[in-house]
Amino acid sequence: MKKKWWHDKIAYQIYPKSFYDTNGDGIGDIQGIIQKLDYLSDLGIDIIWLSPVYLSPLADQGYDIADYYQIDPRFGTMEDMDELIAEAKKRGIYILMDLVVNHCSDEHEWFQKAIADPEGKYGKFFYLEDAKNGLPCNWRSYFGGPCWEPLPGTDKLYLHVFHKKQPDLNWENPEVREEIYKNINWWLDKGLGGFRIDAIINIKKALPFRDYPSDRSDGLSSIHNMLKEADGIGDFLQEMKHRTFAKYDAFTVGEVFDAKPEELEDFVGEEGHFSTMFDFTTVCFGTSEKGWYDCRQITPEDYKECCFSSQEAIQDIGFYANVIENHDEPRGVSHYLPEGEVNNTSKKMLATINIMLRGIPFLYQGQELGMENMPFKSIDEIDDINTLDEYKTALDAGLSEAEALKVISRYSRDNARTPMQWSDAPAAGFTTGTPWLRVNPNYVSINAAAQVHDEDSVFTYYKKLIALRKHPEYKDTVVYGKTIPYLREQKNLMAFYRKGKEKTLLILTNYQKDPQSVKLPSEKYRVLLNNCSTLNQKGDFITLEGYQALVLELL
Ligand code: GLC
Ligand code: CA
Repeated sequence: MKKKWWHDKIAYQIYPKSFYDTNGDGIGDIQGIIQKLDYLSDLGIDIIWLSPVYLSPLADQGYDIADYYQIDPRFGTMEDMDELIAEAKKRGIYILMDLVVNHCSDEHEWFQKAIADPEGKYGKFFYLEDAKNGLPCNWRSYFGGPCWEPLPGTDKLYLHVFHKKQPDLNWENPEVREEIYKNINWWLDKGLGGFRIDAIINIKKALPFRDYPSDRSDGLSSIHNMLKEADGIGDFLQEMKHRTFAKYDAFTVGEVFDAKPEELEDFVGEEGHFSTMFDFTTVCFGTSEKGWYDCRQITPEDYKECCFSSQEAIQDIGFYANVIENHDEPRGVSHYLPEGEVNNTSKKMLATINIMLRGIPFLYQGQELGMENMPFKSIDEIDDINTLDEYKTALDAGLSEAEALKVISRYSRDNARTPMQWSDAPAAGFTTGTPWLRVNPNYVSINAAAQVHDEDSVFTYYKKLIALRKHPEYKDTVVYGKTIPYLREQKNLMAFYRKGKEKTLLILTNYQKDPQSVKLPSEKYRVLLNNCSTLNQKGDFITLEGYQALVLELL
C-alpha cells in the first residue's frame, strides 16, 4: 500500500456553533476555535474537520449554504478563517472544511435566479419538473415528507432529498460541476488540508424519476430504494478528484452511506475517489426504514461483529475513518455502552477500541471528555429538524408523547450538539451569554478544566492512546498492522491483534460489567496501556475486570 501523509493522523471534528463562543452571543465562532488550538494540539490532534461555517440561514445548521465563498457573520469573517488556517499550520494541524454540494440553500443566488427564470441557465442547476402532473416520484425526503416542493411563483416543482430549504444541485449539468470545482480549488488555494464530503452518495440520481414501492403509510418510499439503482457516481467523483483534490494531494473523507459493497475499492482503494470514508457499520446497525422508534439497540456482540467485519473488508483495500459519534449521532458512550454502565472505565474501553482499530480515528468534540447524551425533558428543548420529524413519525405510529420523547432522546442529533463543556463555570464556560442550545447539566462534573491535569481522566487516557499511535516504536504497527480478531467467539470479549512488520500488539477489552477470564496466547508481554489499576494474571490467564481494556505488546 502506497503511504500517504494522512495515514498516521488523528482527526477531530468541530461543530463550530457549539465549540467556543468568544463574543458572548451564545454561538461558537472561529475565534473560539483559534483560542482552543493549543488544547487540541496538547491532545495530539493533527487534522481538524470544521462542520460548515459558510454563509447560511442555518435551517440545517449550515448544511444549507447560501454562498460558498463567504463565512457566516455569526461564525466570523474570512480574515478569521485565514487566521485559523495559519495558526493551525503553525502547530502542524491541517484544516478540513465541509464540502456540501449535493444541495445548496434555497437562499443561494443560483436558486433565486432559478425562481426568477426557471427556463434559464440557473433553472438547469436544479431538478425542476412540471407541477401539473402531480409529484414526479414518491421519494421521501430524509427529513420527512415528499422530496418535491413548489418552486415559488412558478408552475414547477423542485427536488430536495433533504429539507425543502436544501434544493438538490443537478450534477448531470456540467456547468454545475464546473462551479463546484472552481470553489473547491479556491479553498484549497487558501491552504486547506482537504475536505469532509457531505452526503455525497446522493449526487447521482436514478433517472428518469419514478416511484418505488412505498414503505410507510404515507405512500412514499425511502431514498435508499432509489440509491440502490443509481449507477455511475464514480464518473462524477473521479472527475471531481482529478480536477481538484488530486492536484493538491489533499485529504478527503467521504460521508458515504449506501455504497455498494463491491464499490469499496472504487471509493477508497489506491485510485479511489476519496482518501478515506467513515465506517458507519455500527451507526447503521439496527436502523429501520420505519423510523427511530423501530430501531434495534446494538449489543456488545453486535458492536464487535460490526467492527470486525468492516476491518476485514477494508484492510487489503485502504483505510476507513473510525468514529463513535459525530454531529448527526448520539454520544458514543451513551449509544454503545449499556444503559447504567456508562462510567470512566467503560468510556476508556470504548476509546481503546476506537483508537486501536486500524483506520484513521475521527474524534468528535467532547468525546475526549466522555460527554454523554442530554437528558431531554420536553420536545421543546429540541432544535434539530430531523429529530422533530422523527418525533412526529413516532407519534403517528401510535407511541405516546412520553414514549416518543424517550425514543428521540436516544437518537437525537442534538445530543451531540449541546455546547462543549469547558469548565464548571455557568454555561460550561462555553459562552458568557445564553447558549443557543441548552448545556448538558452534567457539565459540573464532566468538563475539560477538571480533566486536563487529572492523570485518571478520560481526557488523559485519550491523550495516552493518541501518543501510543504516534510512538516511533509502535506507530507503524498501529497504523499499518493488520487487525486479526482474537477469541472472536468469546462472549462480550472484544479482542484483536494488530500485527505489524516488526511488532504484534494484542488489545483485550471486556465489554461487560462482570469480570471475565481470557487465555493469553503468550505469557511474555509488555503492558502498554491499562484503563484499570490492576492486572490479575494467573498462568496464561488474565481475569479482566468489568470494562477493563489492555493494550499489550507481545514479546
Ligand atoms: C449530512 C450531514 C448532516 C446534514 C445532511 C444534509 O448527513 O452530516 O448534518 O443534515 O448531510 O446536508
Ligand atoms: Ca460568538
